[in-house]
Amino acid sequence: MAEAREGPVLIFDSGIGGLTVLREARMLMPDRRFVYIADNAAFPYGDWPEEALLAHLLALFERLLDDIRPACVVIACNTAFTLAGAALRARFHETDFVGTVPAIKPAAERTASGLISVLATPATVKRDYTRTLIESFATHCHARLVGSKYLAALAEAYISGGAVSDEVLWAEIAPCFVEEDGRRTDIVVLACTHYPFLANRFRKLAPWPVDWLNPAEAIALQARRVLGQRPADAIGETNRDLAIFTSRDVRPEIARLMQGFGLIVAGGEGA
Ligand code: DGL
Repeated sequence: MAEAREGPVLIFDSGIGGLTVLREARMLMPDRRFVYIADNAAFPYGDWPEEALLAHLLALFERLLDDIRPACVVIACNTAFTLAGAALRARFHETDFVGTVPAIKPAAERTASGLISVLATPATVKRDYTRTLIESFATHCHARLVGSKYLAALAEAYISGGAVSDEVLWAEIAPCFVEEDGRRTDIVVLACTHYPFLANRFRKLAPWPVDWLNPAEAIALQARRVLGQRPADAIGETNRDLAIFTSRDVRPEIARLMQGFGLIVAGGEGA
């Protein structure tokens, strides 16, 4: 375990997806202070070549860890963690990193039909990490990988009040639904932290009911375990939760969404 230190809990994503994890983490750790980082300068990560994204993340964390000195970091992003988790832990070994990976293991344990789908960014479905998870835990089932180029951006648009049509959403999730020898997909893993914001829409569009697996609570539980009894950087009137954007070019609806989550927005138009 890394050296124990006070400081806020840093929750990191390319955009708003990590809010799905922050929501759970706050419920489990109401006294802790959180700093939310949205790397909007680089959003979406799903389009980045692996080498460039890895170098970008290592350089960004060099600065973030120096500036924020967090008690621990939650990488609330599958696309980032499946690529850079090991390198971040190796480079910054004095910091505890809690990761987010596609919830293939729990899906494989729970499926009754043996057909599961993994809905993620195109980058996450291509990662060696994801293939290894399937080889390690899901060889007894059929795991279909569904890479969506647009859903992360659609989730950002939808959650900030934009119109997103059923047709567009259906085109992205339709390949998740497989029927084979009288069996049907019964679990869809939400392997991008943005997607739980669209889960109610997905439920309405599904041709049959499936379990939409959202790992946010499990990630928050792991963060609480890692932090243990460490002295908290306590939340208070003068020490509130922050949202920091890596680019000042923040859409006002996104800044308002962060404020709606009770975060003080630093950087961007909401500052
Ligand atoms: N929220 C991120 C994830 O969990 C991905 C969004 C993006 O493409 O940047 O994978």
